[in-house]
Amino acid sequence: MSLILAFESSCDDTSVAILNTDYEVLVNLISSQPEHLDFGGVLPELASRLHMKNIMHLTELALKKASITLSEIDAIAVSINPGLIGSLIVGLAFAKSLAWSLSKPLITVNHLLSHVFANYIDHPDLSPPFLALVVSGGHTELVSFHSDTEFEIVGKTLDDAAGETFDKAAKLLGLGFPGGPIIDSLARGGDADHVNLPNPLPQKDNYNFSYSGLKTAIRTYIMNQSQQYLQEHQSDIAASIQAAIIRPLISKSIRKARALQHTKILIAGGVAANTALRIQMQEQAARYNIKVYFPSLKLCMDNAAMVAAAAIPKFKAGLFADLDVNANSIKGTRLL
Ligand code: KG4
Ligand code: ZN
Repeated sequence: MSLILAFESSCDDTSVAILNTDYEVLVNLISSQPEHLDFGGVLPELASRLHMKNIMHLTELALKKASITLSEIDAIAVSINPGLIGSLIVGLAFAKSLAWSLSKPLITVNHLLSHVFANYIDHPDLSPPFLALVVSGGHTELVSFHSDTEFEIVGKTLDDAAGETFDKAAKLLGLGFPGGPIIDSLARGGDADHVNLPNPLPQKDNYNFSYSGLKTAIRTYIMNQSQQYLQEHQSDIAASIQAAIIRPLISKSIRKARALQHTKILIAGGVAANTALRIQMQEQAARYNIKVYFPSLKLCMDNAAMVAAAAIPKFKAGLFADLDVNANSIKGTRLL
């Protein structure tokens, strides 16, 4: 069995993990950056500087916690797209220098693909074919997997992402950042029918998503209510917004899974942490004998264990990167 040392620095979390090639996590350390909270969003330049400050120490700590020395590592994995370019470059430069100095292979990983492979860590029985619903801060995609290395995007958002819509709604309600977890907890016990919000692209044969109209409808609704009303009905409003965001995610995932005769749906990305999405997807998919998988909460957030997990099939297939590889902002779920 081989050991993979992995780095994740695509946004505002610095993470270092070590996994063996059986998807067992020896260590998965995440250092988040509360410094951004004062700004109501992630400041890219600040994020790269904090990655630089944290990555060396976190790596030493990870090796120590796992009782592993660098010479025992068999490959170095790192995310190279999509993400904040400055942040990605910090992780990649660090990974490259380790790979070079240790003479070990470098494996580059797409961040969204790593969110999908996070599921392998929690569900060792899982294997393709399956349909993955990728719902992160900036992406909303349906990806049909034929094997670990062969997949195609079969639906995607035409404009904004589901995660972005959670964040925007919370911001308009003055609730803070990131919005998803705040709306998730406020929505518990709320009446999801309180606000009538649009359901975009409802046609049965349309597997794309659109959130810009919904974002505008949420904005218009909030602007037309008094602060007191918003305060008093916070839970019902949060539940209505959440329901409008997750409704198309659930219906289109299940419809596409049925159309492609998939019997498994995976949820991946930060929005996979959403309580209502997890429960309702499972309940509704069960009617069609479709099994639903999602990662544990810690593995839904950005972390390096999932980077290592996505690197394992590449390690086994010998798909290594050259040391002159660059980070980039190419969007979407990709093999490279
Ligand atoms: O996967 P991720 O870190 O984003 C990118 O890789 O771009 O996910 C972050 C997104 C944010 O939009 C955040 O609001 C959302 O995931 N999120 C949630 C929840 N936890 C995080 N959305 C809904 N419910 C949650 N519990
Ligand atoms: Zn992410």
